[in-house]
Amino acid sequence: MSGGHSTYTPRTGIEKWIDARMPLPRLMHDSFVSYPVPRNLNYAYTFGGMLSIMLVVQIATGIVLAMHYAASTQLAFGSVEHIMRDVNSGWLLRYLHSNGASFFFIAVYLHIFRGLYYGSYKAPRELLWILGCIIYLLMMATAFMGYVLPWGQMSFWGATVITGFFTAFPIIGEPIQQLLLGGFSVDNPTLNRFFSLHYLLPFMIAGVVILHVWALHVTGQTNPTGIEVKSKTDTVPFTPYATIKDAFALMVFFLVFAWFVFYMPNYLGHPDNYIVANPLVTPAHIVPEWYFLPFYAILRAITFNIGPIDSKLGGVLAMFAAVLILFVIPWLDTSKVRSAVYRPWYRLFFWIFVADCVFLGWLGSRPAEGAYVAMAQVATLFYFAFFIVVMPVLGLIETPKRMPNSITEAVLEKNKAGAPVQIANAAAEPSHKG
Ligand code: HEM
Repeated sequence: MSGGHSTYTPRTGIEKWIDARMPLPRLMHDSFVSYPVPRNLNYAYTFGGMLSIMLVVQIATGIVLAMHYAASTQLAFGSVEHIMRDVNSGWLLRYLHSNGASFFFIAVYLHIFRGLYYGSYKAPRELLWILGCIIYLLMMATAFMGYVLPWGQMSFWGATVITGFFTAFPIIGEPIQQLLLGGFSVDNPTLNRFFSLHYLLPFMIAGVVILHVWALHVTGQTNPTGIEVKSKTDTVPFTPYATIKDAFALMVFFLVFAWFVFYMPNYLGHPDNYIVANPLVTPAHIVPEWYFLPFYAILRAITFNIGPIDSKLGGVLAMFAAVLILFVIPWLDTSKVRSAVYRPWYRLFFWIFVADCVFLGWLGSRPAEGAYVAMAQVATLFYFAFFIVVMPVLGLIETPKRMPNSITEAVLEKNKAGAPVQIANAAAEPSHKG
């Protein structure tokens, strides 16, 4: 994965034996120890590492939960209560898993926004970006199906509403919905197939993450300047520099995560999901988990017909388009400059876009009526305009700020004396020699 010359030297007999047969330790060493990373990476570059750890947390807790969970409409709700009350540390496992899903999404959103800010998707990293988008889609599918498993009111009604979207598509809509449900409504077959897929998809995510990191190690990481690595002085070895920074950021992240797990474990959930699913009682407001709210707001913002497309289909198309547009960003941004650090206008629009997404999220939690709908329509318009108008047009007309010639020059400019750079170089040297 290192994509470059190997610096690994097996020392012991067993290391030499393994290296001659299957050089996995060499691959690990070249990818995560001696691998050169830009010297100026900031904390925005630590979310990828966090995501990898969160994926492991989700899979590990999920596997143990599955040992006690019963995927049947008669037993599911009770089996979750049994996990919470009778299974040793079951409450902890469950709260780690349910809050873990939220924290996984917090990290992925920060990771995506980092990419948008620093232009990480630009050539030659288009495929790396697309693999990320595939992971994001898989994460959404996994989280949606996972939320159905406790078989509470929101599980049932959320699944009913979301699978119902597909009926908006003419001809193919209903067969797709029935395939998802395993029948004509959310019921036992639905719960069974959702459980099966909820168990499968995280492993598919893990597979795509391996491809994602592989692609990353071919192109190398970007950095806040957006300038590619040009010489050895532009980089430091992954270990200890990036490893320590990632570990520190992870600990801070885990502190906040632990705060939620131990002190407010139900804050991010919905109280109605502690009521067993009842097909005869519809909750007053059906709301998805917080991480889907911006898309939910977009869905409900389309209250009018667009030519032959009725408002229901229009909403569903807008919602899917809001996610799928991420795939083509590398070709929408026309700027020759990668990083927002040197693009004052793009930077302004970027922060408005972040605020717009948060605003859409809030609107998604409100009832779809009155002024909320009008506000959601404006926010949806800006959401799409950011990609379709701002990105292509600004890239052509914006005058970027003067850029340094190299990463090293940028670092030296920042701390004028240059002394810390000398120290970092000296420390990096032995590892480069292997
Ligand atoms: C399970 C989810 C994911 C994992 C485990 C993961 C892992 C990583 C890791 C370890 C890195 C290198 C460290 C860093 O830059 O933070 C990285 C970089 C990157 N990721 Fe992800 N990622 C995930 C999801 C995504 C998503 C959803 C996207 C975009 C839609 C994405 C796009 C990128 C890009 C473009 C880079 C290169 C950043 C740069 O060098 O500027 N990733 N990812």
